[in-house]
Parts: sequence; C-alpha cells; structure tokens
Amino acid sequence: MARSADAHDEWWRHAVIYQVYPRSFADADGDGIGDLAGVRQHLRHLAELGVDALWFSPWYASPQADAGYDVADYRRIDPAFGDLAEAEALIAEAHALGLRIIVDIVPNHVSDQHAWFKEAVAAAPGAEARDLFWFRPGRGPDGELPPNTWQSVFGGPAWTRVTHPDGSPGEWYLHLFAPEQPDLNWNNPKVREEHEDVLRFWFDRGADGVRIDSATMPAKDPSLPEFAPDATPPDHPYIDRDDVHSIYRSWRAIASGYEPARALIGEVWLADPDRFARYLRSDEMHTAFNFDYLNSPWDPSALRTVIQDTLDAHAGVGAAPTWVLSNHDVTRHVTRYGRADTSYGHALRQHGTPTDLVLGTRRARAALLLALALPGAHYLYQGEELGLWEVEDIPAHLRQDPIFHRTAGQDVGRDGCRVPLPWSGEEPPFGFSPTTTAGRTTAPTWLPQPTAWAGHTVQDQQADPDSMLTFYRGALAARRRHASSLRGDSFRWLDADPRVLAFQRGPGFVCVANLSTAEQPLPPHSDILVGSATGTPSRDTVAPDTTVWLRTD
Ligand code: GLC
Repeated sequence: MARSADAHDEWWRHAVIYQVYPRSFADADGDGIGDLAGVRQHLRHLAELGVDALWFSPWYASPQADAGYDVADYRRIDPAFGDLAEAEALIAEAHALGLRIIVDIVPNHVSDQHAWFKEAVAAAPGAEARDLFWFRPGRGPDGELPPNTWQSVFGGPAWTRVTHPDGSPGEWYLHLFAPEQPDLNWNNPKVREEHEDVLRFWFDRGADGVRIDSATMPAKDPSLPEFAPDATPPDHPYIDRDDVHSIYRSWRAIASGYEPARALIGEVWLADPDRFARYLRSDEMHTAFNFDYLNSPWDPSALRTVIQDTLDAHAGVGAAPTWVLSNHDVTRHVTRYGRADTSYGHALRQHGTPTDLVLGTRRARAALLLALALPGAHYLYQGEELGLWEVEDIPAHLRQDPIFHRTAGQDVGRDGCRVPLPWSGEEPPFGFSPTTTAGRTTAPTWLPQPTAWAGHTVQDQQADPDSMLTFYRGALAARRRHASSLRGDSFRWLDADPRVLAFQRGPGFVCVANLSTAEQPLPPHSDILVGSATGTPSRDTVAPDTTVWLRTD
C-alpha cells in the first residue's frame, strides 16, 4: 500500500479530512443517486484538492430511511452505491493516492430492516431477540400509550408499537431518531461483540479510522425514566451517560491493536467542554468534531472564546482539536455567514432568511483560512470547496429528510445541504450523472440542483484564479508548505483591535483575521503568504472579512 513517508505519525492530529456524502458526490450508473464508482472516477479531484483523508457517510446496505444512517447490514454495500469489491477497490485506489479512509459507524441504532430487528419483532415479548433493543409494554389499560413521553430527535414520539402476527397490538420499541431506526441495547453483550467485529471487518479492509455517529447516545438508563426538559448530563437518561465511555475504551483497544493504529473520531454534540473532553481521554477516542466552532456566529469575540475554550479543553486531555464549518446535517456556511444573524443551531436553522451570498462567500473564505491556521485537524464537507450554498427552494414533494416529514415541514430539515454536486456543463445534472446510460435518459438527481449552479461547477472553477476551488487548493497547499509552523500545539494570541483575531503559530508564522467592517493595519511582517480575498492583497492592511497568513521573521 503506497503511503506518505509519515504513515506512522498521529495523522488525525493535523489532517484535513473531506466528508464524502455518497448519495450526492457523483453518479456513475445514471440512477440519479451517487455511487462508489462515481467516487472512484473523481478521486483525482480529491487528491488535487490536497486533502489527507476521506470520511464516507454510511455506504452500507440500508433502506435509506435516514440516508444510510439506518444500517441493515454493515458487511454489505448498499446496491445503489455498489458492492464490497467496489469499496475495496476504492480504498486501494485512495490509498495509492495517499488518501486515508474513514468509515461511519452508527452504534445508537440499526435499521428496522436489520436481521436482528426483524427477528426481534417476530419473537414473543420477553424473548432474547428483543433484548437487543428496547421493547417495553405500553402504558394505559390496553398498553395504548407509549412507555414514556420521550420525543424523537426527528420530531414525534420516540416509541412505535409493533403488532403480533394475528394483527393485535403488541409492545413498543424505542427509537430516538426515526421509527425505522430502533435503538440498540448496549447492556446486551451481543451488541458490543457485534460492533467490535464490524470494526475489525472494516479495519481489516484497510479503513484507517471510524467516525462514530451520535456518540453520546448509545448508553441508556435501563429504567427509561421521565426527565425534565432542562436535564443535563450526567443526569440525563440517554445523553452522555458515564457508562457510554466503556464502549469507546474497548474500541480504542481494538484500534490500537492495528499497525498503524486506526483512529476513532466522535460525533459528540455537548455544550460542556469538560464533558466533551472526557471522550478524548488517552484510552478513548482520538478526536471529536468541534461543533462549537460551527455553531459560533461570525463574530470576533464569540470566535475568540470558542477557540480559546477549545484549545483549553483539549489541552487538558492531550488531544488535538478539530475545526468544522459544515457537514451533511447543517445549513451550508456560505448561507449562514451571509445572514444578518450568523449564529447557528439545529433549532435555529433560519430557513429562508435573506442571505447575501457574496458576503457569505467572502466570509467563508476568511473562515477557512482562519480555521486552517489553528492547531488540530480540519474537516471539509463536500461542495464547500465549490462555495455551494444551501438550496432553500426544494419543493416540499421532493424533500426526503425524515425531519421535514416528521415535523410536518416545521423544520425544513437537511436536504438543502445534500444536493448533488455540480461537476461540469451548463445545466442539471451538471455532470453529476451521465446524461444517457445504455441509450436511455438517466433518472433525475435524487434532489433537484439549482440552475444557478451553472458557473459553480468543478470544470468552471478549475481554470478561474478567483474561484473558491482555486482558493481551497491554494490554501490547502499553503497549509502543507507551512506544516512546520502549523503542526503541533504552539499558539499565542497577539495584541490587536478587538475585532481582529491575530495569533502566532510557530516562529515566524502569524494569522490575522479581520472581522470588522474597516481595513485594519497588519502587524510587522516580511511577506504575505496567502490571503482569503480575491485580487492582490494590500501590503500594510487587511480588508474587512478577510484572513491573511504572514511571515514575520
Ligand atoms: C447523526 C448523523 C445524522 C443522522 C443521525 C442519526 O447526527 O450525522 O445525519 O441523521 O446521526 O443517525
């Protein structure tokens, strides 16, 4: 396996990791849904972009009730995406290009079409097969009320009732997400053994790490108690319970048994930085997504606080921070940063709020350069390198996200950041799908692409020196060139106007981000290494909503 010279270093501490959302990356077979053959055709795009690793959102066999986060079989690839041989070929080709591979593991739940759940539903109440999940009798005289009043993250009750073979109503099962995603009972040793085996299955096939979905949620208080709306960990029956950590300790032991060691990367949404850092203790995960940075408004004091708190929390456990601006669950940041209120949270999707995309794009460029200069790893979400914005005008009948349907449209959901990528051409499908397969017109893309993406395709941006794609390539190349300053923990704030974030990384390397509305003077420097604004940067000042990297020796 061809690998870069530093194959044995702790690459997850400083890597740039690109999230591939397989349904929307590239469609080779013309069914309107992305697939692994499509990824293979475009691996060069990713290598030329200059990323170090690819994280794949779930590619396993799944009825796709939650776009693959409802896994029916971890050892098979969803037929819409390809097969196991294709995944193995993809891993080998990516490795040959120096790209590491991270696969997604979803421990909190499986699909309702998983063999275990089908067996559990067919079994009698109290049967062992039901103990792999959370089956309970209902409340009320005929058990017609759910066992408790917990609500699903996707809206509506977190319980669904099953029926007996004769059609009479039976027990209820817990699903913190959609009804098609029954929660697993991690107190059952079979659940632990199976996931450990799944990890080995993918590590044996060359996966360099796993991204752990909804990592704070698998452990539950088995009495399934009611809880107050303001309950916080550790007094919450399923978020961040202390016993969840034993799962990741056993996973870490497995990951460490490989040569080179495999990485564990957690999806840990927690407000308390100290509780967050507990997942990164030396015998648990290697890194976790830093959602505080993603949620932060484009505001100098808020960002300064998030950066400092992040560095402090990670330093306490010796872990490397991560920086994330977008992913498949959130409004794209070009859109967020173009709004009057740039703060974000799932409850605050601000769908349809007026957005200045020119301003949002300018800030997105500045935010990338700022984040790339911070100590730690950086995550990119497919399409941000093209400056794609949130698609907000998808008609209701074409929306797919269960959040949209379960909230009757009150929460518009996540489809707007999942629209298939534009590769080439002047009109949809913009090279995402071939226009004909075997002489037949191909199916429409699974979510419609905006015609305004003409001019934003990879092909268009490739040759344009001012495009987002050219900027991303340049920024990632500069990050590699200055690795000696940017790897490691060295970080020191410099005195600056309060609306300017200025810090030193390593000797002679300074980053300055101007979040004010006026030009700001630059500190003394010998060279401007790279800047986020288009055009030639001024030598002495930095423009509003702009970040620059300086050499200061
Ligand atoms: C995570 C995933 C999200 C999914 C959910 C349930 O938050 O990122 O896309 O819907 O878990 O698996």
